[in-house]
Amino acid sequence: QWIVDKDVNEENDYPQIIQAAEMLKENEVVAFPTETVYGLGANAKSTEAVNKIFSAKGRPSDNPLIVHIGATEQLENLVAHISEKAKKLINQFWPGPLTIIFEKKEGVFSDKVTAGLNSVGIRLPDHPVAMALIKEANLPIAAPSANRSGRPSPTTAKHVLDDLDGSIAGIVDGGSTGVGVESTVIDCTADVPMILRPGGISKEEIEAVIGPVDMDATLVTGEGAPKSPGMKYTHYAPNAPLFLVDGNPEYLQSIVKEKQSEGLKVGVLATEETNGFYEADMVIPCGRRDDLKTVAHDLYDVLRAFNEEKLDLILSEAFPRNGIGVAVMNRLEKAAGHRWIGK
Ligand code: TXA
Ligand code: MG
Repeated sequence: QWIVDKDVNEENDYPQIIQAAEMLKENEVVAFPTETVYGLGANAKSTEAVNKIFSAKGRPSDNPLIVHIGATEQLENLVAHISEKAKKLINQFWPGPLTIIFEKKEGVFSDKVTAGLNSVGIRLPDHPVAMALIKEANLPIAAPSANRSGRPSPTTAKHVLDDLDGSIAGIVDGGSTGVGVESTVIDCTADVPMILRPGGISKEEIEAVIGPVDMDATLVTGEGAPKSPGMKYTHYAPNAPLFLVDGNPEYLQSIVKEKQSEGLKVGVLATEETNGFYEADMVIPCGRRDDLKTVAHDLYDVLRAFNEEKLDLILSEAFPRNGIGVAVMNRLEKAAGHRWIGK
């Protein structure tokens, strides 16, 4: 494990970044911070390296990986075509939490990266450590979130260690990540681009730049087959079953009382505004309701924290589906298996 500063200080951090980059060049897997969540990186050109990602994570091989670049100039060599709309998105949002799906150029990546598709997802992360590491390795870096498959994505180096200690070559520790949920994935291979995964950049922000886009409807309803392979898997679930509650805190508290009277131990995912109101076996605030970015930032850490006690069920407040709230609700719906109380 290499500890580096978020504001990559040449003297103290650079030897560690060089060491991590060397491991990537030797086809080892290394975890590193991005502005969204920690990624588990490997040389995207090497099947040997990419296989190590799938085995460390226990990830199904039909789920393609995102390729990370360290500078926009790297893009041209990797994809077959960049549409006008994609160019606008790149200008506006890179570096940043937006993954763009392009037609892939043949023979550039290991086929394992794209899981046999003829498209590839690429992003330029807005994090000094990620950028320095990728530039130093001078390779396209395939990187999924650095969690065991099915677990909440890691937002600290400790989360990565909890899941992957012993099965990866190293971690670059750059402190806790900023956004807290993964990048938005948008497919720009069609005329009207389609959001395949809501994330750090909202639909509203995208539409302000390129006009109307579609959003894969299965992401909201949970019904039908999602268009992105990764969205069909159960994800983010704590050990105890999670339920979303449609109602105010008084209503949620009445469910807590009811379940406790049945002898069950109940956890509550609250917010800073409502935290003091609940009486349950475990109450954890997840950001502030008046700023959904803080909810996104805390979400995965809170979902992991519920595993520290043996609970029978967890009740979660619901959030407005606007801005980054769409991504927050998408992850909570997945964690809850779309189970609601009071709806
Ligand atoms: O914020 C992020 O995007 C993080 C950090 C580490 O960059 N990475 C991440 O990767 O979340 P991962 O592998 O956990 O999720 C990638 C998602 C999956 O849902 C996958 O199915 C989808 O992107 N995806 C990747 N390539 C695709 C493609 N060619 N077509 C459709 N979906 C694709
Ligand atoms: Mg993931």
